[in-house]
Amino acid sequence: MRIGIIGAGHMARALGGGWSAAGHEIRYGRRDSIRAAVEFGDVVVLAVPVPALTEVLSQADFTGKTLIDCTNAFEPDDGNTVLGEDAVAERVAMLAPGTRVVKAFNLCAAEVWESAERVFEGRRLAVPLCGDDASALTQVEELVRDLKAEPVRAGGLNRARYLEAMSAFVVGLWFAGADARAALPPLEAAFAVPD
Ligand SMILES: NC(=O)c1ccc[n+]([C@@H]2O[C@H](COP(=O)([O-])OP(=O)(O)OC[C@H]3O[C@@H](n4cnc5c(N)ncnc54)[C@H](OP(=O)(O)O)[C@@H]3O)[C@@H](O)[C@H]2O)c1
Repeated sequence: MRIGIIGAGHMARALGGGWSAAGHEIRYGRRDSIRAAVEFGDVVVLAVPVPALTEVLSQADFTGKTLIDCTNAFEPDDGNTVLGEDAVAERVAMLAPGTRVVKAFNLCAAEVWESAERVFEGRRLAVPLCGDDASALTQVEELVRDLKAEPVRAGGLNRARYLEAMSAFVVGLWFAGADARAALPPLEAAFAVPD
């Protein structure tokens, strides 16, 4: 796959490095080469700070692209982590009409993608995906598997805001030294039966 990654920072390099190792072609979009990276990619990843999104999305024609949004609108709040914005992926979809937006890769630190470890306590790392377009979700599922993780379809783009909130909440726990993973029972013990 040809993947344009907007941004050349920590997340861009972590994801791009993994995909490059899996055989994909990567072009990074730095400030002066955003348009070239967008034109190059069948899939385009937004790996910039949330405050940069409006400007970035105005700099090229993203029409027809699968757009992966891995951003988090984190803001510090008295030593904790909160969101400066509630529904970034939905705003991305509004700013870039004609694209197929998938929220993904916003939960784990870049260091996780840089490391080779994918199985923790016997379970493969899962990557929730939120998006409305089936073909785009299939493309992103392939990219998740190429990073040796397990994709999980988690609903439409209207649920991406929960994924964004989950990230802020979980990161807040981690930064406080609490194991967020311990707060959730495994599926078989979750009594996950709709009423
Ligand atoms: N790091 C993580 O562990 C992690 C995990 C999950 C999600 N995320 C999300 O991923 C996104 C990127 O995070 P990061 O850690 O990779 O940040 P980063 O290392 O600071 O890199 C940010 C990149 O965005 C570029 N950029 C900033 N403002 C720009 C603008 N106005 N126009 C064009 N490019 C601009 C920077 O370019 P310059 O170098 O020229 O400033 C840099 O290449 C953020 O939304 C973050 O919330 C990060």
